[in-house]
Amino acid sequence: MKEFEYTAVKEEFEQWKAMGLSLNMARGKPSLEQLELSRGLFTALDFDDCVDEGVDARNYGELAGTPSAREYWAELLDIKPQQCFVGGSSSLNMMYDLIAKAWSNGLLHSEKPWSQQPGIKFLCPVPGYDRHFRITESFGIELIPVRTTEAGPDMDEVERLAADPLVKGIWCVPKYSNPDGNIYSNETILRFAALKPAAPDFVVIWDNAYCVHEFRGEYVPFPEILAISAQAGNPDLVVEFASSSKITFPGAGMSVMAASEANIEYLCGLASAQMISGDKVNQLRQVRFLKDREHTLMMMRRHADILRPRFDAFLKELDEEIRPLGIVRWTDPKGGYFISLYTRPGCARRTVELCKEAGLVMTGAGAAYPYGKDPEDSHIRIAPSFPPLKDVELAAEVFCTCLKLATLEHDRK
Ligand SMILES: Cc1ncc(COP(=O)(O)O)c(C=O)c1O
Repeated sequence: MKEFEYTAVKEEFEQWKAMGLSLNMARGKPSLEQLELSRGLFTALDFDDCVDEGVDARNYGELAGTPSAREYWAELLDIKPQQCFVGGSSSLNMMYDLIAKAWSNGLLHSEKPWSQQPGIKFLCPVPGYDRHFRITESFGIELIPVRTTEAGPDMDEVERLAADPLVKGIWCVPKYSNPDGNIYSNETILRFAALKPAAPDFVVIWDNAYCVHEFRGEYVPFPEILAISAQAGNPDLVVEFASSSKITFPGAGMSVMAASEANIEYLCGLASAQMISGDKVNQLRQVRFLKDREHTLMMMRRHADILRPRFDAFLKELDEEIRPLGIVRWTDPKGGYFISLYTRPGCARRTVELCKEAGLVMTGAGAAYPYGKDPEDSHIRIAPSFPPLKDVELAAEVFCTCLKLATLEHDRK
């Protein structure tokens, strides 16, 4: 371990600064090596072989997606093909669209469109995914933070808040949550399934973005929420999302919205005013390439082999340089794309600022909280996936220096 004393750490920081580095660990993007795994997508489809179970993928039709794409996601998520609406390349876009439809038309059980109900609110487990929060914020919906634990959102708090009829839903990332990397416990899942919100059109947005994304250890099977909530008398409560963004190409994969058949029918009805059909050629190409669950899991093991060393490199540096100081804590996930680190209160923003000065761009401090405001100024999201391994190693060193310096500056005040 290097020294933890102001003058020595400041000197180390100045040395990093003088190197004119340009490193970026801001967003959870796959690395070039991971993109290489999907090279075969470019040759997975032939013009003369585009008919999928009787459906010509090159032509209009099948608003809810090609038969094979609906079957693919049904197998991956452990549901029925009729519960799947396969869309374009972005699940986030589909989530935005769900909120937009709630706003303009209402959801299946809405008494009126959300736009005609003043003062509505949405629950945001924190820390969470900034882009989720921005969707609801962009409609002027009030964001209510909810504390999370290793088992998922604080369910006592969720149940208490859901008793307010103005609270219309909650954002969830149940497996390898962004950014803590936790998996919701069985108890949390059961309590979600049995939730009795006051609003008849309350929606649990179950963003299963990391459903097959373990980078350490074997694939972890995960309870299927739609069946459990149906059994609990809440068949239409949950709308689930996933995509192949971090299986093949982010921004050029295929996304899915999964829900009860009644929900899918209702939402298809609304979508029919919006488009004739989605990009089925891409859906077919993705399915021809990914094949099925078993083949997808094999691909994910290859992703894991590329991701794991990057996470290990960052965690090793934290272990060696920071753990002995006892000044922060961090998560050690087995999947997903992020590590969460919690500084002493009041040190996160300064740490990220110092990183920037030293040539390392991190996700903005506070980004994982509604309105970008972390009340403790303590959370930092670390995304080690994208840079080459040697850059991650270097970035980890720079980060540790900046974290120490921010802590020492704070202690001197
Ligand atoms: C939790 C979560 N949901 C959704 C997305 C984006 O998904 P898509 O590329 O399908 O829009 C991300 C990307 O980082 C994410 O972390």
